[in-house]
Amino acid sequence: MSNQYLDFIHSRRSFRQFTEQQPTDEQIENMLRAACSAPSSRAIYPCHFIVIKSRETMLELRKVHEKAIALDTAPLTIIVCGEPALSELAWRDDCAAASMNILYAAHAQGLGACWHGIFPREYRMTPISAILKLPENIVPYSLITIGYAIKEKKPQLRYDQSKMHMDGCW
Ligand SMILES: Cc1cc2nc3c(=O)[nH]c(=O)nc-3n(C[C@H](O)[C@H](O)[C@H](O)COP(=O)(O)O)c2cc1C
Repeated sequence: MSNQYLDFIHSRRSFRQFTEQQPTDEQIENMLRAACSAPSSRAIYPCHFIVIKSRETMLELRKVHEKAIALDTAPLTIIVCGEPALSELAWRDDCAAASMNILYAAHAQGLGACWHGIFPREYRMTPISAILKLPENIVPYSLITIGYAIKEKKPQLRYDQSKMHMDGCW
C-alpha cells in the first residue's frame, strides 16, 4: 500500500550539480530547525551548524575536499560540526542524525543535497577547521551541499532481503 511519508523517504537522492538559484532564508532556517529536531544521545545536542553562501569559501573548501565535486556549483553549504567535550561517546552519532535531517528537510522543500564526509579524516578536518576559523573544541563532521538540482533522479530500490535477519538472530 502506498504511503506518502514512506515514498518521501525512498525518493531522497544525492544531488551534485545545481542551478545558480539560492535557497531562501526561510528554507535555510527550516533545514536548521530540522537538524535541531534530530535525536540526540542524553538530549545533549552537541552540534553546531555553519551556513556558507560565499562562492569563494566554497571554492576554498573544494581545494581541500577532493571528493566534494558538488561544491563547484552549490549555492549553499552547511557544515555540521560537533563539540566532543559535551558528549564524548555520541557526538558523531548526533551529528549524523542532524545531517540526515538536513537532507530530508532539503528534499521536503524541493531542494537537492549531498552529504560529504569530513570526520574522521584529519587531512580534511585540519584545513577545513582553518578555513572556517573553528575554535579548538569544535570538530567539522560533515559538509552538505544544497541547491536546486539541475536534473531529477529516480528513487533506487535497495532493499536487500539477504541482509534482513527476521528470526530474531543471525
Ligand atoms: C558519510 C557519507 C559520506 C559521503 N561522502 C560523499 C562525498 O565525499 N562525495 C560525494 O559526492 N558523495 C558523498 N556521499 C553521498 C553518497 O555517495 C550517496 O549517499 C550514495 O552514493 C547513495 O546515493 P543517494 O544518496 O543518491 O541515495 C556521502 C554519504 C555519506 C553518508
